[in-house]
Amino acid sequence: MPSLRERFADAFEIGVALGGKLSKDYTPAELELISTQFSNITPENCMKPALIHPEENRYDFATPDDLVAFARQYWLNVTGHCLVWHQQCPDWIFADQGKPAPRDLVLQRTRQHIRQVLSWYRGALQGIDVVNEAIDDGPGYIRKSKWTQCIGDDYVEMAFRFAAEFGEGIRLYYNDYSIEMPEKREKAIRLVRDLKAKGLRVDGIGIQGHWMLDKVPFTELDKAIPEFAALGCKVMITELDLDMVRRETSGANPTAAESARDDPYVNGCPDAVLARQAQQYGELFHLFERHQRHITRVAFWGLHDGRSWLNSWPRKRTNHALLFDRQCRPKPAVAAVVA
Ligand code: G3I
Repeated sequence: MPSLRERFADAFEIGVALGGKLSKDYTPAELELISTQFSNITPENCMKPALIHPEENRYDFATPDDLVAFARQYWLNVTGHCLVWHQQCPDWIFADQGKPAPRDLVLQRTRQHIRQVLSWYRGALQGIDVVNEAIDDGPGYIRKSKWTQCIGDDYVEMAFRFAAEFGEGIRLYYNDYSIEMPEKREKAIRLVRDLKAKGLRVDGIGIQGHWMLDKVPFTELDKAIPEFAALGCKVMITELDLDMVRRETSGANPTAAESARDDPYVNGCPDAVLARQAQQYGELFHLFERHQRHITRVAFWGLHDGRSWLNSWPRKRTNHALLFDRQCRPKPAVAAVVA
């Protein structure tokens, strides 16, 4: 059986999000899985503002540098994640001597942050999520956050402006969850259209793809991909997983929490459920292939079931959301995807 990256070599890249330091936190079996199956890696956490820029005058490039070095060694591309987000963002950006910082100061700090990260990784990043999750989950347009409080809704525009200023040779993306669904899709289209009308560069739109078993929005995806492409953007599935343990919360809002409940698959996932997962992953990749002229990357949010964020969000569970099991063995979904 070909590896995933071989199977889709002519269609799109196969990506994976990785946390921690590759040189220290991964087993030889995991490193082999990364280098054989995937063609693109995304840092799961270490490039987010709070981690890479914890204090105004201090950047922490060690962990992302380690990931970039691994990628170089194995000829993998790297997609940065993310320059501006309302989560995992350090408080210092928004404060000035104990008071909320004025717009100009926050803009100046944002520009400096984007300048430093993009300059440091020039030549190392193929693309980067410039703004992550700016669209409101409810009826509003732009999500209210410290960014909108300090700068205004145009923080998105300003972030893309700064990214274009310093990001020569790096593709610039807007990334969000549930934007394949009609309510958020309409707002995502409005946002990207507005940015482009202002002459800003938006090279790609990332549909995160945190979906649930038996609830994959195939029909909406089928519409969303060409609609995003019609804006003159490439489309990417950026954080794919298929949640196997029932949760109430849709989307991927990290602050959502559910109280502890049963953990049905703590001793393993039954074959019949894995077969359903295989069928749905297979159908998804069939859909992606049909739209392959628009799609540049399909990336999984984690290397294998043991490393998925869905084991701890929105409550502690034993999940089985990805293509490889905790021993790095291919699950039935791998064969279905390849087929
Ligand atoms: O590193 C600390 C560790 O020292 C500490 O002991 C432990 C105790 O809770 O926390 C560890 O940090 C956690 C970090 O992941 C690293 O594992 C944070 O608590 C936890 O909040 C953080 O979660 C990350 C989440 O973003 C935060 O918003 C997930 O790993 C990461 O997968 C997730 O990724 C996001 C994307 O960036 C954007 N789209 C949604 C996606 C899922 O929320």
